Amino acid sequence: MTDALVIETPADQETPAWWRQAVVYQIYPRSFADANGDGLGDIPGILSRVDYLAELGVDAVWLSPFYPSALADGGYDVADYRDVDPRLGTLADFDAMVEALHARGIRVVVDIVPNHTSNLHAWFQEALAAGRGSAARDRYIFREGTGPDGSEPPTDWQSTFGGGAWERVEDGQWYFHHFAVEQPDLNWANPEVREDFLETLRFWSDRGVDGFRIDVAHMLTKDLADPLPSSVELEAIPRDGNHPLFDRDDVHEVYAEWRKVFNSYDPPRTAVAEAWVETPERRAKYASADGLGQAFNFDLLVADFDATQFRTLITVNLAEALVTGSSTTWVLSNHDVTRHATRYGLPPLAGRRVKQGTEWVAAGGPEDQLDREGGLRRARAATLLLLGLPGSTYLYQGEELGLHEVAAITAEQRQDPAFFRGGAFDGLGRDGCRVPLPWTADGASFGFGSAGSHLPQPAWFAEYAVDAEASDPASTLSFYRRALALRHELQTGETLEWLETGREDVLRFVRPNGWQVVTNFGTEPFALDADTGAVVLSSGADAEASVPGETTVWIAPTA
Ligand code: NOJ
Repeated sequence: MTDALVIETPADQETPAWWRQAVVYQIYPRSFADANGDGLGDIPGILSRVDYLAELGVDAVWLSPFYPSALADGGYDVADYRDVDPRLGTLADFDAMVEALHARGIRVVVDIVPNHTSNLHAWFQEALAAGRGSAARDRYIFREGTGPDGSEPPTDWQSTFGGGAWERVEDGQWYFHHFAVEQPDLNWANPEVREDFLETLRFWSDRGVDGFRIDVAHMLTKDLADPLPSSVELEAIPRDGNHPLFDRDDVHEVYAEWRKVFNSYDPPRTAVAEAWVETPERRAKYASADGLGQAFNFDLLVADFDATQFRTLITVNLAEALVTGSSTTWVLSNHDVTRHATRYGLPPLAGRRVKQGTEWVAAGGPEDQLDREGGLRRARAATLLLLGLPGSTYLYQGEELGLHEVAAITAEQRQDPAFFRGGAFDGLGRDGCRVPLPWTADGASFGFGSAGSHLPQPAWFAEYAVDAEASDPASTLSFYRRALALRHELQTGETLEWLETGREDVLRFVRPNGWQVVTNFGTEPFALDADTGAVVLSSGADAEASVPGETTVWIAPTA
């Protein structure tokens, strides 16, 4: 790497908002900790692990949906936006959890799913009963079918999870669902829909929630005026603001209204958009201060462990933050993708699987090609690099234990609709990263709960259990704890300067306070100059005079 590049962001550094450089830990509630022994994680389970979260050193937690749901899509099919699933607890449990987290200085972010409801939501049940042309149906997207008797769907569009995107109801009309059949899309042109979500945002803000993660934030508004395009025609329409289904400019009118609600609280509530859009410029719109304020950057989810790819992505995303005034976000794992230790342990780009004939296979080779140790070594190096960058980092439960994806889940045990409909998300679906956490090396469901776990835990989970790792200074858990503690010293201004390394496979940058981050993506050690400073943390073997292969180090300036 040759050219030095200074990147600056315009953030107000005197009183930066809490979220700008926060570490946010994603909890998938049904798989975190099960307090009542029914095999499903719950809110009291989270409450019982607040000390663990505090010791880990996270600044905030983001809870995936915990609302009443038939679990057609792991809780992203919400039957009531202003309640807790009785299997997961009560609103009183939720309040107690927020209080305990706040008492330890941990903020709380909840998931809002505005594109679709569950088919069990009162509104959808009302729409079914009320019949065609009713006000209740206008909250959703109902259309007549095509063909002589209307028995063909309005269009040939495919849902994200595979299969058609329209479902027929008893009286012959069809409704649109981007995702599972049980997730009818809402009609965001309907003022009642808009008003109701403002109420939901106030409901959780009043309960002390600090921020929101907005599910598929780029899909809400639609232009479904007749004649509707075919899927081939749809595919050809650019996604640059006026596409019928994705990333329409008018969606930002919704978020401008939301912003007024967020800013009516002190401190203002925050939001982060899940928006899979075409370009960083399009993504920037979601991160603007008069909109949601921050947007996920998922670029690293689809990148290899590769210096050039990382450097480009870092540069582009920091430049984007300059434009929006937001801070950038970094993500290596979440509940929708193969865990990054596994992605980096398979041949390049093999984290996602492809279909060969009727079989789904890992894109880069079969599962037995997984290099467990190498994958984890690279994952730790990538994590430490990320934690050294300006911006906020989102961690996914279990990555702090170095967990790999669980592959040994039979078709009968699987839950993800994407698996059953053979659609997106790698063909095997997303259950492998949603297996309940191992808290203890022994005992029923590795300490998750007293009555087994809703997805099967493999025997190798014992090695990764919290109690086994907590007492081992070389464990991934100890490494994360140390990194998060040190990060508070490292994260000053939101800038970095790339430094010359003379090697294509080594990245090195310095932060405003003189801390340096060096990542050796290659296998040959990278020698450090004697006056560089002291290595305070290594993602791998101890490093002093040189950085071993596939390792990141943090270097603090000597006083
Ligand atoms: C994105 C969520 O992350 C994913 O888990 C869910 O299936 C879809 N949105 C639909 O809500």
